[in-house]
Amino acid sequence: MASPDCRMADKERIIITSALPYANGSIHIGHLVEYIQTDIIVRFLKLMGKDAVYCCADDTHGTPIEIKAKQLGIAPEELIATSSKEHQEDFASYHIEFDSFYSTNSAENKALAEMIYLRLKDAGHIYEKDMELTFCEHCKRFLPDRFVKGVCPKCGAEDQYGDQCEKCNTAYKTTDLVKPFCTICKNTPIRKTSSHLFFRLSRFSDQLRDWLVSNKNLQMDVKNQIMNWIKEGLEDWCISRDGPYFGFKIPGTEKYFYVWLDAPIGYISSFANYNSGDIDKTINEWNASKIMHVIGKDIIYFHWLFWPAMLMGAGMKLPDNILVHGFLTVNHEKMSKSRGTFLNAKEFLKMCPDPELLRYYYAANLTDHMNDVDLDLLDFQEKINKELVANIANLVYRTLSFLEKNFDSSTVDVTDVSCLELLKKIKIDSDETVKLYGRYNLREVVKKILYISSEGNKFFQANEPWAKVKSEEGKKDAHQVLSTCVSIVRDIMILLKPVMPSFAEKIGAQLDLTLDKKSLSSVLGPHKIGKPEIVLKNIEEIKLPTVAQAPIEFPLDLKVAKIISVEDHPDAEKLYVLQIDLGKEKRQLVAGLKKFFSKEELTGRKVVIVANLEYAKLRGVESQGMLLAAEKDEKVVTLSAKDSVPGDSVAPKGMAMNTKKITYKDFMKVKFEVNGGKIIFERKVLATDKEDIIADIDDGAKVC
Ligand code: 2FM
Ligand code: ZN
Repeated sequence: MASPDCRMADKERIIITSALPYANGSIHIGHLVEYIQTDIIVRFLKLMGKDAVYCCADDTHGTPIEIKAKQLGIAPEELIATSSKEHQEDFASYHIEFDSFYSTNSAENKALAEMIYLRLKDAGHIYEKDMELTFCEHCKRFLPDRFVKGVCPKCGAEDQYGDQCEKCNTAYKTTDLVKPFCTICKNTPIRKTSSHLFFRLSRFSDQLRDWLVSNKNLQMDVKNQIMNWIKEGLEDWCISRDGPYFGFKIPGTEKYFYVWLDAPIGYISSFANYNSGDIDKTINEWNASKIMHVIGKDIIYFHWLFWPAMLMGAGMKLPDNILVHGFLTVNHEKMSKSRGTFLNAKEFLKMCPDPELLRYYYAANLTDHMNDVDLDLLDFQEKINKELVANIANLVYRTLSFLEKNFDSSTVDVTDVSCLELLKKIKIDSDETVKLYGRYNLREVVKKILYISSEGNKFFQANEPWAKVKSEEGKKDAHQVLSTCVSIVRDIMILLKPVMPSFAEKIGAQLDLTLDKKSLSSVLGPHKIGKPEIVLKNIEEIKLPTVAQAPIEFPLDLKVAKIISVEDHPDAEKLYVLQIDLGKEKRQLVAGLKKFFSKEELTGRKVVIVANLEYAKLRGVESQGMLLAAEKDEKVVTLSAKDSVPGDSVAPKGMAMNTKKITYKDFMKVKFEVNGGKIIFERKVLATDKEDIIADIDDGAKVC
């Protein structure tokens, strides 16, 4: 058989990795593209007798994980333990088999991160520099990119993250944002200087260029992009973060390693886990192995520049190949929660219980280029039914059941010239399939397998064994045809095994044949097969879950009002009757504020009222709305809006008010939060068009 990949000599160790999934989210069908792609490649290499080791781990460090754990009220270690378990269950359910699935929060990763850092430091590749950063005084933390939002300094788009504008794509620093706010507490952050550690990436430009030029395995389209980045000039890379941070402390400092420093080192520590924690052995073997990373196109910069430069600086083996794939789209659009296409691994399995159908579909759409993969659900059904069921499974079942019925489940030596001719042709196609696998072009692999199967079906059909068995002479011919078909079925199953391991093994069991490299295209003599059974059936159209399209609405009409006068309620000790100015109209409110404020304190004050509350009589006096106040530990304050004018609308930023009348009961369902003196509804700050509404009261106060 042809060598699958001339770059990979026999017995050589090949370490293969997929990008490490973040430990703060579930595995979704987008992630699965990569893990399925890698798993197929690893299974293929193992089938070819290679010493392939599939390493992966959860990517456990960084601010999002630290904050999510805090929000859940658990330790980050607990969060990452739960994720790890869930991730591994999801992977196993799609028949993705790692040789090591580990964690970046491991002793091995700490040791290796420190070792690589110290090697870089000793070689003079690390230096310290002051940086001005965004700091939230309320949360008492520096705010990384995703934790500060504001107006884009370039195009003025609102609500943009601290690293890049989603509207105009401009990249900037958090300190460049206009009107920044902390996404945790909504307060305005300050700028604060902090000293950070930098890796001299710029120093590696020439070495990186040489590596790119000399490495013939790397995808051309990606290589060109990287060459351009190098040409434009590489900036040094900040590798430290201030606490609080979930990660490893940098030796000799109070800072932490940025998650992207220890994440790729997680590839090596996962391999160390494979080596039972033996770090020296791991480093030696890493340096002596072929290394291949499979990644998505969003993390090219990290894998083609930072990571090789780090390895160069630390005197370690560079990747031999970095296979980049595109993104997943569903029905030709970006995965989206509102369209119901943002499906996690478990959800898709509920809709389509055979995990190998998705493996097949992804394989049929994956090439060795970084083009996107589209999961078109109608096409999915069609491909499964027309290709897998009507072509492959049909050849399998008709061959095996015919053999059982007419030839006592037994094959014979194939001596017929035309049969041998066909087997010879199919051997050429099988060899080509193996070559295509070696180039990681799974779409062409699948096409070739389908071609072999349709050749088998044509052969079966053209020879009409059902007619031939009617005569003694014809029966002999038919037996030759069927034995040939069994050989073809076996070869198809060997070739399909990396893509659909469980399906192939089930058919392998029915054939009672081993599906290994040695058997591929081998001459099958007299053999007795097992019991044929239908394994694959047509599937129905996959229906996306209908998503309740109910955006969160703000049910209130809040307005700024000025209190004109205050009187005692004639019939209630604790109540005042207020006359208020709403700009275009005047109203009367009854409010239980007597215990907390004198009439003088209230008169002339600007407050916020609920203007769409059904009018109600309180002890005989009509209240045409309600004054909003915040209360905590016996302290009560009114909400203030000092730069706004009576009649100004108050609503959570980005949300519309609602003028429809509501009952008091419905009003009571509206939940506000007080945080840092601001009033928050569904994570949005209450404001007029001139200012944020302020409540001078401690966090956790009740608004009513
Ligand atoms: O982008 C991501 O999902 C990262 N967690 C990938 C890390 S890959 C490697 F470098 F660790
Ligand atoms: Zn904050």
